[in-house]
Amino acid sequence: RLLIIDFGSQVTQLIARRLRELNVYCEIHPYQTVTDAFLADFAPRAVIFSGGPDSVTRPGSPRPPRSVYDLGVPILGICYGQQVMMQNLGGRVEAGEHATAEFGRAYVERAGENDDFLSGWFRDGREQVWMSHGDHVAEIAPGFQVLGTSPGAPFAITADPARRFYAVQFHPEVHHTPNGRTLYANFVQLAGFTGDWTMGAYREEAIQKIRDQVGGAKVICGLSGGVDSSVAAVLIHEAIGDQLTCVFVDHGLLRQNEAEEVVAMFRDHYNIPLIHADESDLFLGALDGVSDPEVKRKTIGKLFIDVFQKHAAEVGGAEFLAQGTLYPDVIESVSFSGGPSVTIKSHHNVGGLPEKMGLKLVEPLRELFKDEVRALGHELGLPASFIGRHPFPGPGLAIRCPGEITREKLEILRKADAVYIDQIRRHGLYDEIWQAFVAILPVRTVGVMGDGRTYDFACALRAVTSVDGMTADYYPFSHDFLSETATRIINEVKGINRVTYDITSKPPGTIEWE
Ligand code: XMP
Repeated sequence: RLLIIDFGSQVTQLIARRLRELNVYCEIHPYQTVTDAFLADFAPRAVIFSGGPDSVTRPGSPRPPRSVYDLGVPILGICYGQQVMMQNLGGRVEAGEHATAEFGRAYVERAGENDDFLSGWFRDGREQVWMSHGDHVAEIAPGFQVLGTSPGAPFAITADPARRFYAVQFHPEVHHTPNGRTLYANFVQLAGFTGDWTMGAYREEAIQKIRDQVGGAKVICGLSGGVDSSVAAVLIHEAIGDQLTCVFVDHGLLRQNEAEEVVAMFRDHYNIPLIHADESDLFLGALDGVSDPEVKRKTIGKLFIDVFQKHAAEVGGAEFLAQGTLYPDVIESVSFSGGPSVTIKSHHNVGGLPEKMGLKLVEPLRELFKDEVRALGHELGLPASFIGRHPFPGPGLAIRCPGEITREKLEILRKADAVYIDQIRRHGLYDEIWQAFVAILPVRTVGVMGDGRTYDFACALRAVTSVDGMTADYYPFSHDFLSETATRIINEVKGINRVTYDITSKPPGTIEWE
């Protein structure tokens, strides 16, 4: 196995991800915990030093234990990791103020030959990389040679092939180093990895970790029916069986057949103990007459916590709360918490619960990215149609019903949404679209159907492409698709007589209407 020593880079998890893509098993450990004893016990076959925000010129800045260099295994240092390696082994690093700091795209040119590490790397004699450094290496350590240079980093790629130590100033793990995967592939190959690790193995390891963490205690899991909490629940159930109970809160704001599908899948198919809390009267009652989006969100969020707590009490003595937190959620909340950003929308989650209820968290997906969670779901046997589902917000249809929410409007919205999604599936577009839904608008408009006048609701179709939901663009449906869909909705859904298509991107719009 491979050890990644984390010096605090924002993108350390991306290194792990690249290695998983190469079917290599790795673990990330913060530098503080990597001692000589730890290293001896871990016995890595290779080590990677991540980047990090500190400066090696500052006394007391993070260091790996010296014994790492005596293990006789390949080491790859990245950015701060390069600098720390150079300084440890007798080179010299200069602090930012004397250096040409470099942030963003740069091009590295070949300066030496090394086919173990650089095979297939320089595609046009030079290669695009992503730099992000203030300090720089001023003098390389004895035994090292320069293999690549860039204008701002004369020692962009350095190596001591005899000891199999490699160090780069740029970040090969990020998307903007397009050929970065090649460097990782070469590194793991020269370290002797055969690339036989799989998502199946990840599943086994994750199960073991959950067992170690939870022991014989009870765990509750709030199930939303979304992919993340579902994968987490199935995985935890594999690990600890009936020590897990899921609570599915039906707030009456779900899509057509959604509650039935979720309950059938978890209770009947997976045999997971599930409390199906039908609290639609409570939620819809509290939302009666409410039209302000933030009041809607806060009302739902607060009630959700109350209801979840009430039903969790039935489980009796649960010590852990399971959540399907993903890596991007972790990194965003770490880097932005306390930051200057404003609240655009109060996102509803169960963040307030663990403290309030004295629960510890089990978050088995914390290291994974969305597509990896989908792969894990696939590995766990979740149906493909379920794994690929578009995201659905916690407050549900409440925020797709601008203005006051009524049961009548919700029923119309559910039907229109079902027709729209059916259209998208029939045309084979579902997987190309990140998220699609209907919003029912708080206006009635006049129409003519047959020989009669109608006075019904208008609705808006929404479909966006996105990578992470942070930015989005509207999906360019063909006119044929749009007119066929509008016709179907108006014919099949009583209560709607006008269909519009929302062509706003995010920003300036948001994906949801509220
Ligand atoms: P917006 O509308 O902010 O949405 O552009 C971005 C993504 O987040 C989803 N969303 C939510 N998800 N709880 C959730 O779990 C929420 O309160 C919430 N609000 C928005 C939205 O569906 C989109 O995928």
